Amino acid sequence: MRVIITKDYNQMSRTAALIIAKQVRSKPSTVLGLATGSTPLGTYKELVRMHKKERLDFSNVRTFNLDEYFRLDPSHPQSYHTFMFENLFNGINLKPENISIPDGMAENVEGFCTEYERRIKLAGGLDLQLLGIGRDGHVGFNEPGSSLGSRTRLKTLAEETVRDNARFFGDKKEVPRLAITMGVGTIMEARKLVLLASGQGKANAVMKSIEGPVTAQVTASALQLHPSVTVVTDQKAASMLRHRRYYLYVEKMAEEYEAEAGI
Ligand code: F6R
Repeated sequence: MRVIITKDYNQMSRTAALIIAKQVRSKPSTVLGLATGSTPLGTYKELVRMHKKERLDFSNVRTFNLDEYFRLDPSHPQSYHTFMFENLFNGINLKPENISIPDGMAENVEGFCTEYERRIKLAGGLDLQLLGIGRDGHVGFNEPGSSLGSRTRLKTLAEETVRDNARFFGDKKEVPRLAITMGVGTIMEARKLVLLASGQGKANAVMKSIEGPVTAQVTASALQLHPSVTVVTDQKAASMLRHRRYYLYVEKMAEEYEAEAGI
């Protein structure tokens, strides 16, 4: 696991965008897994800038979003459909037919979830999955107690998540209580994982996920079992990490090595 501790939110966003851009440039038909929420906003802004100013090309990229609220119309201002179009898709040259977001309005939810998994497989699997983290350590909407082998399914949001997401809806009562989410098992099958975390409020979840035991009570801790994970945090989110100085040292050594090797 690589842990990159950046100075602040902007640097975290720029670092994550560079990782994604490198992936897309090295494989133009990359299959990207995407997240919503406030954490990846800066990353998406930077990707839009790179598309406009540096010709970062998404024309052959396919995307699969992690989750969507259940029974929230895609046109709702707080749906993850709306979020993705407003914050990323409208600013880059992805083909609409290459975009997949869970359908929160699906009549047959189980059938839809099975089909979503099948579509990911058919696309060749996720090359890189971008993740945020909840204060309870969730990835996707895999709340504490979610099986670490879980697949895409309907999930009940934890009380804390509903409270956290109320900031987008104005009123807690408006926040959907259910969501369709990729499972931990689905996420773990991506070839690369990039987890973003920003702010003091995430420090405890980050510490438990990276340095705590692997447990279904903190679903992000499953990432410890994945062979290719990059965690990008700002200083506040990293503030409770016991081995913080070591992670900084490793990155400094890598930089020196790359400079020496002319990479
Ligand atoms: C969103 C998602 C969630 C969020 C998490 C953090 O697609 O899967 O796991 O990443 O709830 O949300 P923010 O970034 O708003 O703190």
